[in-house]
Amino acid sequence: MKVALPSAETVAEAASLLRDGKLVAFPTETVYGLGGDATNERAVAAIFEAKGRPQFNPLISHVLDAAGARQFVRWSETAERLAVRFWPGPLTLVLPRAEGSSISLLATAGLDTVAIRAPSHPVAQALIRAAGRPIAAPSANRSGAVSPTRAEHVAESLGERVPMILDGGPCLVGVESTVLDLTTATPTLLRPGGATREAIEQVIGPIALSDAIPSGNAALKSPGQLKSHYAPERPVRLDATSVSPDEGLLAFGPDVPAGAMLTYNLSLTGDLAEAAANLFTLLRALDRPGIGCIAVAPIPQTGLGLAINDRLRRAAADDGTGRRG
Ligand code: TXA
Ligand code: MG
Repeated sequence: MKVALPSAETVAEAASLLRDGKLVAFPTETVYGLGGDATNERAVAAIFEAKGRPQFNPLISHVLDAAGARQFVRWSETAERLAVRFWPGPLTLVLPRAEGSSISLLATAGLDTVAIRAPSHPVAQALIRAAGRPIAAPSANRSGAVSPTRAEHVAESLGERVPMILDGGPCLVGVESTVLDLTTATPTLLRPGGATREAIEQVIGPIALSDAIPSGNAALKSPGQLKSHYAPERPVRLDATSVSPDEGLLAFGPDVPAGAMLTYNLSLTGDLAEAAANLFTLLRALDRPGIGCIAVAPIPQTGLGLAINDRLRRAAADDGTGRRG
């Protein structure tokens, strides 16, 4: 596997790998993506294979802009208003597949809808432009592991399963894109992410929350039902207001309980955007020998806190494989 700093030459090389049906890991503003040609079924199959995904979850296709999206999905007035406000950026829209759309059926898991977004990261944009086709990309990690926000994370998780990694430095948003389904009567938030519910509602009015997303803090207390997706090796304890000496603490804000073996702060000033950007890096940093459990301070359930708490609940959910012993 080759790790390359982005330049005209390395982006052209990556684009040519993509056109050949090979995979390339690349930075987006949210997390690193494991990219393949979204119109090539075998390339998309290779993505699932490299990730070790147990099922074929549908993937997001990445395009440059609304004009690029219109080639593959049935566009709408709501989509247009959202794209004007949020694209390029961390908002994924689920729209009906356009007649004759060349997006791989495997990429959409056979659904008649397509998830599509225009990333704002300049390296992602350069790669899409150079490849001349949409890029299907889930987060560039093995299934069930913490999402990568640095090129090193990708290399550790995927190793030789990916021929090339474009190293664009740390991801600025740090959590995945918001996924919004525009095929329901009222648009439905399927996954909280980098674009906040509040900002979306300012543009299109009230949206519905998928049943999988709790609306208040109460549901944070029962993570048992959730599928484990963003899983550190160590158990994760949420809403920690005190800690024990064998714990690593993921703190938030200026009030930090004393006594943990190791403490990292998502944001000393309590800034949710800073916390999102640090989330996966600090979760990884606390997931290390000597630490019995990762304790996480309460995070407010507003703005980006919705996405942060969603990822933390998944990190805390036991996936039933018993691998936490
Ligand atoms: O920030 C991101 O979105 C990153 C970067 C690389 O762009 N990508 C990412 O992809 O997180 P992935 O595969 O981990 O998540 C895709 C999400 C899943 O929740 C999936 O269920 C949903 O999008 N999705 C994809 N296609 C869909 C569809 N047709 N209908 C409903 N949900 C869909
Ligand atoms: Mg993922």
